[in-house]
Amino acid sequence: MRKKIVAGNWKMNKTFSEADDLIFKISELINENYPMDVMVVVCPPFPYLELATDLTQDNDISIGAQNVSNHDSGAYTGEVAAAMLKSIDVEYCIIGHSERRKYFNESSKLLAEKVNILLKNDIIPIFCCGELLPEREANNHFNIVEKQITDALWHLDSEQFKKIVLAYEPVWAIGTGVNATPEQAQEMHAFIRGIISTKYGTEVAENTTILYGGSCNSKNAKELFANPDVDGGLIGGASLKAEEFVKIIESF
Ligand code: PGA
Repeated sequence: MRKKIVAGNWKMNKTFSEADDLIFKISELINENYPMDVMVVVCPPFPYLELATDLTQDNDISIGAQNVSNHDSGAYTGEVAAAMLKSIDVEYCIIGHSERRKYFNESSKLLAEKVNILLKNDIIPIFCCGELLPEREANNHFNIVEKQITDALWHLDSEQFKKIVLAYEPVWAIGTGVNATPEQAQEMHAFIRGIISTKYGTEVAENTTILYGGSCNSKNAKELFANPDVDGGLIGGASLKAEEFVKIIESF
């Protein structure tokens, strides 16, 4: 059976002491009521990753990064290597988030390199895809998402692809308070599973975790997660408050 995951993407938020407090509170709340079949991933900014892996080493929370360099090591000022993340027990890394595509011009070619370097270092990529509003309005959303996935991931062999977690995040839903409806999410997730099945076979497709992201919160999570192809969420704003984030986890 595929894994259910709720992952918190903190983006560029929190000071060190706020980060410490938030991880501590999430751990405390989760230890009280942990739904055992849901994996919880917290993705803080780079400076707090080691703190986060330390604070969560005795519980079931996994830690993810929000970015990684496409290079192994060396003269790349300001970059962070996958091997560095691995050396502080980071288990996941968000790749291809629409904010990185938009503000940092990340191309599918670059994303493919980042995916490769993560897999080489035994870190699970959470690969994001999703269309812009005009693309949906032009009824082009399936083509856009298919191209994002095929361009960055289809070079993987099936053993490698099995390690990928996907996140469908329609860009018009991110940070807007307008989530995709459960029907829209299910329709796209089923489409994504279908293309994976055509390329890698039914078994791989059935075992691939596909998260939904975009204004997911404790009020809409239950309806979104109730869909057969929605295996959890990638949560931005609502992951910044411990009670709210844990309520989302408990929505399964
Ligand atoms: P949001 O962000 O939940 O704040 O809409 C989701 C994301 O960007 O991963």
